[in-house]
Amino acid sequence: MTRYAKIIGTGSALPAKALSNGDMVALLATKGIETSDEWIVERTGIRNRHFIEDGQYASDLAFAACESALGAAACKIADIDLIIVATSTPDMVFPSTATILQRKLSEAAVARGEPSGAGSAAFDVQAVCSGFIYGLTVADAMIKVGSARRALVVGAEVFSRILDFNDRTTCVLFGDGAGAVVLEACEHEGQGPGILSTDIHADGKYTPILCVPGWVAGGQVTGDPTLKMDGQAVFKLAVGVLEDAAKTALARAGMSTQDIDWLIPHQANIRIMQGTARKLKLPLSKVVVTVDQHGNTSAASIPLALDHAVKQGQVQPGQTLLLEGVGGGFTWGAVVVRM
Ligand SMILES: CC(C)(COP(=O)(O)OP(=O)(O)OC[C@H]1O[C@@H](n2cnc3c(N)ncnc32)[C@H](O)[C@@H]1OP(=O)(O)O)[C@@H](O)C(=O)NCCC(=O)NCCS
Repeated sequence: MTRYAKIIGTGSALPAKALSNGDMVALLATKGIETSDEWIVERTGIRNRHFIEDGQYASDLAFAACESALGAAACKIADIDLIIVATSTPDMVFPSTATILQRKLSEAAVARGEPSGAGSAAFDVQAVCSGFIYGLTVADAMIKVGSARRALVVGAEVFSRILDFNDRTTCVLFGDGAGAVVLEACEHEGQGPGILSTDIHADGKYTPILCVPGWVAGGQVTGDPTLKMDGQAVFKLAVGVLEDAAKTALARAGMSTQDIDWLIPHQANIRIMQGTARKLKLPLSKVVVTVDQHGNTSAASIPLALDHAVKQGQVQPGQTLLLEGVGGGFTWGAVVVRM
C-alpha cells in the first residue's frame, strides 16, 4: 500500500471589484499614461482582473476560498491539522497569514457551534508565483511521512497593493484572488488518486528580473515597495524552466504528456502557456485558461484555475492533472496529481 495526499475539495474567492482592460485604460489615463485593450489582450490574453477593497487582506480572500474548499470536502476546520498559505502579499510582516487565516476559520467555526480547530500547524510559504506548487510539495511530503493527515493548501494574493500604477508594463498584468485545496491522506495500491510526483527549484541569481525590492526597517519602508519586472527576461526563462519541471515531474510519476488530461499552468500570460503547451506537445484544448478573467494572481492563480475547472465540470474524478508554476526568485516547479 502507498500513502498519497488526495485532493478532496477545492475552493476559490475573488474580490467583488472587477476591472476590465477598459477600466485600466481609464485609470492610467488619469496619470497621463496610455494603454489599450488591444495591446493588453494581444500581448497577455488578459481581459479582466479583480482588485481588493481597502481594509481587506489576503487572509480575507484565503478565508472565503477555504470555507468553500472545506464545504466541497465535507470537512470542518477541526479536521485539518496543517494549514499552508502561499503568499507574497501577507497581511503583516508577522505573524504568518496562515495563522491569521486559522484564527478567522476558527472564529467562524465557533460561531456556528463547531469545534475551533485551533492547534493545527500553520505557516506561510514564500515562493511568489510558484508558491502554490511549493505549498503542495511540502504538504504532500508531510502527509506522506505521517506528520499531517488533512491539510489546507492555499494561494492568496493582493498584488494590487504592490503595483506601480505609473508603470504600464506591469500594472495591467496582475490581479487579486485566492484558491484552496483540502488534501487528505489515503492509502491504496497503484497510482493515486492523489499527488503522484512533485518537482521544485529556485535560482536566486535571477532576483533582479522580478522582485519587490523594498522592505520595512526602522519604522519606514526602505527601497521601492512596488513590483519591478524585466518582462522579456521573465518570459524567456519561464517557458524553458516550465518545460523542464513538467518533464521531470512526469518522469517521476512514470508518465508522459499523453497521460495528462489537463495542464493547469500558472496564469501569467497566454503566450507563456501556449509556448509551454507547444513544447510539451499538448493541445491547447487540454490547457485550463483563466488568465483572461483573473489576470496574474501569483500564488493564487493555479488553485483558482483548478477550482474554476472543477466547478465548470472540466476536471473530473480519475483524471490526471499537471500543475506548474514559475515566478520571482526565480522559482519554478510542477506537480502531477490524479483526482
Ligand atoms: C510584459 C510583457 C507582456 C511585455 O510584452 P513584450 O512583447 O515583451 O513588450 P515590450 O516590453 O517589448 O514592449 C513593447 C512596447 O509596448 C509598450 N508597452 C508596454 N506596456 C504597455 C501597455 N500596458 N500598453 C501599451 N503599450 C505598452 C512598451 O513601452 C514598448 O513600446 P516601445 O516599442 O515603443 O518601446 C511580456 O514581456 C511578458 O508577458 N513577460 C512575462 C511577464 C510575466 O508573465 N510575468 C510574471 C511571471 S510570474
